[in-house]
Order: sequence, then structure tokens, then C-alpha cells
Amino acid sequence: MTSDTNPHGRAGAPSLPTTDWSKKPLRELIGHIVQQHHEYLREEMPTIEEGLELMTVKLGERARGTLVPLLDVFTEMKNELDDHMRKEEMILFPFIERTERYFEEGIPAEPPPFGTVRNPIQTMLIDHDSTFDALKQMRHLTNGYTLPGEDREAHEALYKGLEELESDLRIHIHLENDILFPRAQALESDAIR
Ligand SMILES: [Fe+2]
Ligand SMILES: [Fe+2]
Repeated sequence: MTSDTNPHGRAGAPSLPTTDWSKKPLRELIGHIVQQHHEYLREEMPTIEEGLELMTVKLGERARGTLVPLLDVFTEMKNELDDHMRKEEMILFPFIERTERYFEEGIPAEPPPFGTVRNPIQTMLIDHDSTFDALKQMRHLTNGYTLPGEDREAHEALYKGLEELESDLRIHIHLENDILFPRAQALESDAIR
């Protein structure tokens, strides 16, 4: 078992992947991304959002400076990511898997309805940049997740959850931007003649 089989159970922080994904079949990499990283986000994001909402209510006026704007940025990022993951799972990933299967079976693949895989990839890259922007804004708002003097304990679990989410997202986006997408583009050039 590699350490990225279950990198972010509640017991521990996300760890760097140890599998060499540059050599595994793309369908395995896609399965890993969906099962580990997409599922993690779908589980954790609503929990964090709920925690933030409860805290803003509980702290009232004292939440105005940091938690209220933090909740705004987080909710927008969450909604964008939900949408983004759906696009990956319904359009881009199935296309990559199909292209790989055709290539392995020696069947000439038809060009996709979106012209080339570069087009949806370009859209996904823009989405990823938007996620990075949100992560940066949240770090800025919380002063790098530094616990405040007041209501320290209340912030602790929340900030920890947000930092774990950031680490996981960085691994997730690295796997897509730096491994899956370049390999999918190379595969498309080989498969579609
Ligand atoms: Fe993804
Ligand atoms: Fe993505």
C-alpha cells in the first residue's frame, strides 16, 4: 500500500503522492483523482462551510473582519469546484479514458466534439487558477491561518480544516496540471491521425 492510498483520512494531513503517475495508465490516474481528491472535496467542503456559517452566527459582530469575508470566498470557491469537478467527470475524463482505450486497441479515434482535448483542458486550467486565487485570498484574510487572540479555540479546528483542504487541493491540481493534462495532450496527438 502506498501512502497516497488514503492520504487524508481524518487522522492525518494530506501527504505527497508516492506513486509515479507518469507511467501508470491514465484511467488509473483519473480513478485516483476522482476517488481520493474529488470525493475528499465533496465530503469536506460542506463540513467546512457549515462550520464557518455556525461560527459567523455565534461570533456575531466579532466575525465581521475575518470570518464573514472568509465565508464569502470559501462559498464561491466551493461552488466553482463543484461545477468544475462535474465538468471533469462528465466531459474531460471520459474523453481521455476513451482515447486511451482506442489507442491501446489500435482503433483510430474520432476527433471530439470540442475539437481537441486542449480546449476543455484550457478551461480547467483557468478554473484551477481561480482556485489558487481563492486559496491565496483565504490565506491573506486569516494572516496565514494564524489563530486570533480572541475566540482562539473556536477557530482552531476550522483553520486546520482549511489548511488541510489547501494541501489536498495543491496535490490534486498538481496531478492534473502537471501529469494528467500534458499526458492527455500527448496521447491525443498519438491517437488521432
Ligand atoms: Fe479534479
Ligand atoms: Fe481540476
